[in-house]
Amino acid sequence: MDNQVCGDNAKIDTAAGCATTKAETGAFLEAPQVTMVSPEIAPFAKTGGLGDVLGALPLALERAGLRPCLFMPACRSVLRGGFPLEDTGIRFSVPLSSHRVEGSLLKTVTGSAIPVYLIRADHYFDRDYLYGTPDADYPDNAERFIFFARAVLEVLRLSPPRLLHAHDWQSALVIAFLKAQAQLYPELASTKTIFTVHNLGFQGLFSHLDWQILDLDWRFFTPRYLEFYGKINFLKGGLVFADTITTVSPTYAEEIKTAEQGFGLEGVFQERAASLVGILNGADYSVWNPKTDPYIAQNYSAEDLSGKKTCKTDLQHVFGLPLDADVPLVGMVSRLTVQKGIDLLQEALDRLLSRKLQLVIIGTGESRYEQFFSRVSLAYPGMVGVKVIFDEALAHRVIAGADMFLMPSRYEPSGLTQLYSLKYGAVPIVRATGGLKDSIEEFDPERGTGNGLIFSPCQAKDLLAAVDRAIAFFRQPERWTTLMHKAMTADFSWECTARAYLDLYRKLGVEVKLATEVREARR
Ligand code: ADP
Ligand code: GLC
Repeated sequence: MDNQVCGDNAKIDTAAGCATTKAETGAFLEAPQVTMVSPEIAPFAKTGGLGDVLGALPLALERAGLRPCLFMPACRSVLRGGFPLEDTGIRFSVPLSSHRVEGSLLKTVTGSAIPVYLIRADHYFDRDYLYGTPDADYPDNAERFIFFARAVLEVLRLSPPRLLHAHDWQSALVIAFLKAQAQLYPELASTKTIFTVHNLGFQGLFSHLDWQILDLDWRFFTPRYLEFYGKINFLKGGLVFADTITTVSPTYAEEIKTAEQGFGLEGVFQERAASLVGILNGADYSVWNPKTDPYIAQNYSAEDLSGKKTCKTDLQHVFGLPLDADVPLVGMVSRLTVQKGIDLLQEALDRLLSRKLQLVIIGTGESRYEQFFSRVSLAYPGMVGVKVIFDEALAHRVIAGADMFLMPSRYEPSGLTQLYSLKYGAVPIVRATGGLKDSIEEFDPERGTGNGLIFSPCQAKDLLAAVDRAIAFFRQPERWTTLMHKAMTADFSWECTARAYLDLYRKLGVEVKLATEVREARR
């Protein structure tokens, strides 16, 4: 018989053979120190930076000696991506309002030995996209992620972690359920919780009619808890119940306490300021490194830049642009949304293209921007290349081939692509917000400081002025080489970021004994 994690919101049903299940799963789910929950983890699933972060941070923690484990939905890209998948034999049944929904647990591995547990329920997760089609969110997203959260808790009770670290609105309810319904999860009574906000622009807002699927008391449908202007706000569930909240840069941690950047939740962040920490993301140099990158035309490094010329020619070729080494090539790899300052670029575009430069953009997002930039590439042949596509390999080629990398974001919690472009010597031109402000400093050729170009007011003229400063440096080869060198040698590796998380885990009172420390203590 299949193992079963069954129950009335989680009683292990020994009558259904779960006594064996518990013993087996206890061994199977080797007590993790930290369990992370996320809707996406690269390389299994990725729609943006969240996937990259979950694909790298746990590995850096593991290298530091921690034993993490991960949970995500068994979405189509992981089911059909050729990853080695193991059926754990664990089956569970989750109560959703008046009915129960069945699921099972698969396992794969990342890093050296980090278990990645996949919550399988094909009617919810085996779909073309993670959250919705290009036209609309999936209409049952509330139910899908309520199920996901309940299912994770069902499994976790078999092997309670010391620390539960959940990411973004899709995972927030794991914490909300655990804290608001502690009586249902007695095994997890001493588990501490951290909730990380990667982007306040996505909160998981749903109609109050979905409340019945949550199975939460109505007293939590108030502004103090999950209610948000008449709707249910999943993200808020993580914010109000987590022991500690983090976000992905120190500057963003400040910005979200203001009405301009708080997306209506600034009051919550102000109230929880003492438990709010900003930790800048890192860059995974095992994936994003021009020295070893398998996707790019020729490898190169800060010491030997010759391959970068080949990468630029390759990029010009791919986008049908003249193969001109002397024209500055500005690249962008971005979601095409207002967050990313795409409207600002749109406004600046005619003036930008009056400069002698080439512009290459790959991105997907709002259809009005997809259509606009596709038209621009037709209107400016030989000058602008656009591909409306999400393509990992091409993203590497754009960043490797570009001289400059443009990121005029209106807000940017952390941003990863500016970190990647630094490493590839594609000098970042960014707006001073969030993690961009925390990672990019204006180049000062006299003092030899800085690693890019940065502008502050959210205006087309300031974006253009920053591009002009970049072009002026580009025309002075010695200065440009110095700037590229500064960019390429800046260190944003995950090791430093992982240390900050480890300190935080410790501050939470979780005894994070690293394997290295255990070994030393035994000597
Ligand atoms: P965000 O998560 O807000 O989109 P980040 O800078 O944190 O921004 O991360 C974006 C990630 O998504 C990077 O890995 C970037 O290379 C990738 N990305 C964005 N657009 C595309 C695209 N069109 N094709 C391939 N990768 C993309
Ligand atoms: C979000 C943010 C981005 C951040 C990423 C990973 O998508 O928009 O700035 O880098 O999450 O934390």
